[in-house]
Amino acid sequence: MPPTPRPEATPRPEARPGRTRPAGRPVARPVVLVTGASSGIGEAVADRFAADGRWRLLLGGRDEERLATVAGRTGGGALRADLAERAGVERLAAEALEREGRVDTLVAAAGIGWAGPFTRMPADAVDRLITLNVTSVVHLVRLLLPQMAERGVGRVVMIGSMAGRVGVRNEAVYAATKGALLAFADSLRYELAGTRVGVSVVLPGAVDTPFFTRRGVPYHRRHPRPVSPERVADVVWDAVVRGRDDVFVPSWLGMPARLHGAVPGFFRAMAKRFG
Ligand SMILES: NC(=O)c1ccc[n+]([C@@H]2O[C@H](COP(=O)([O-])OP(=O)(O)OC[C@H]3O[C@@H](n4cnc5c(N)ncnc54)[C@H](OP(=O)(O)O)[C@@H]3O)[C@@H](O)[C@H]2O)c1
Repeated sequence: MPPTPRPEATPRPEARPGRTRPAGRPVARPVVLVTGASSGIGEAVADRFAADGRWRLLLGGRDEERLATVAGRTGGGALRADLAERAGVERLAAEALEREGRVDTLVAAAGIGWAGPFTRMPADAVDRLITLNVTSVVHLVRLLLPQMAERGVGRVVMIGSMAGRVGVRNEAVYAATKGALLAFADSLRYELAGTRVGVSVVLPGAVDTPFFTRRGVPYHRRHPRPVSPERVADVVWDAVVRGRDDVFVPSWLGMPARLHGAVPGFFRAMAKRFG
């Protein structure tokens, strides 16, 4: 078996549990804050980092019971917050920093969907999607990135979507929110060049979670077939420990994404016909 990579986002000695500083003081394990940890991808990410064994976990979500279950199982600290409100985002960031003194890795997994023709999309649904999927992520990064930049090390992982890379019929605003994360990430990377603070966007196709039930419209496509949230969580963990930027799940989705970039007219013609 290949050796397990160390968390890329933290200074080397600190990534090893049980080690002590020369002075004999116990060394803190790196801290990962996962939003959306009460369900689906975020919950699986929490399990994956707990299984790694080298992290202190902070878990964001709204549902008290589900969050407590995940916290109990992973040994993480539950931080309830409604990220649809700016005050909730600010409280989550402040409580995370207060509780652990630092956040080395942020995994922004909280998000919602909406499906249907754009011309029939209610104004409130537009606002909800943009507020949670984009505004709350940008604010959380705004609040947590400075302490990473100050230490010169850290990683932000955003859960994007294939929809944000190529667009999807009847998911115009959802796709736009995920596309915004890609542009946000790319722009941040320029600003963070030369530091050891990195930004990853994980781009799943369909994932087998309560996401579709919650949005009220089931997943109906034949391709891509839904993958498990655990598979996405493995990719998130890998992106953190190896310092990867944009990663598709499953990885073959990178091919249509590249096709879309190279020959968008051809891609759209194919998508209209088969999508
Ligand atoms: N499932 C897919 O096919 C798929 C594909 C591509 C990308 N994604 C993205 O993956 C991310 C996670 O989705 P999922 O599939 O894991 O869906 P999910 O099972 O429905 O989980 C969504 C999570 O977001 C949290 N959340 C929702 N509204 C919130 C709010 N106002 N404040 C704080 N937290 C809130 C939920 O917390 P509570 O339950 O506690 O409210 C829950 O933990 C989303 O960003 C989604 O867009 C999903």
